[in-house]
Amino acid sequence: MVKEKIVRLLNKQLNHELSSSYLYLSMSSYFETEKLSGFAAWMKIQSQEEYKHAMKLYDYVLQVNEQVVLQKIEAPINKWTSPLNVFQETYKHEKQITASIDELVEAALTEKDYATFNFLQWFITEQVEEEAAALLILDKIKLIGDNKTGLFFLDREMAGRARS
Ligand code: FEO
Repeated sequence: MVKEKIVRLLNKQLNHELSSSYLYLSMSSYFETEKLSGFAAWMKIQSQEEYKHAMKLYDYVLQVNEQVVLQKIEAPINKWTSPLNVFQETYKHEKQITASIDELVEAALTEKDYATFNFLQWFITEQVEEEAAALLILDKIKLIGDNKTGLFFLDREMAGRARS
């Protein structure tokens, strides 16, 4: 049986994942307005990935015979100063999500909830990938600096995610 505290944290994490989905969709829309369609496509896929993460939590909470309690999702920000600014925020956001997963993992261990601990292993691995992906793009944007041609080619590269 999963303890009430863990169910509450799982539901909270579900909300974080849905909020992430909403945030990345907002970023995708920003990139569309900036005519950076490759960045926009990448962020739209990322938004869909976050929805899938939320659904993993949704399914798990139901599987352990507990109730999913959906929380309010705040409106995401919709203004950024540059692609650099977007990916600085993305990287910061992913680190916050990792901290939140870590908190959940720690709580599961403290409560000797080994089933939830085991379930969370996927998220631990995923967060390593998510942080690395955001940081790689952030570093590439920094490398490009003010070079518009560089940005054009990175946008084309970002579009590749949609094709892969
Ligand atoms: Fe589901 Fe990007 O954390």
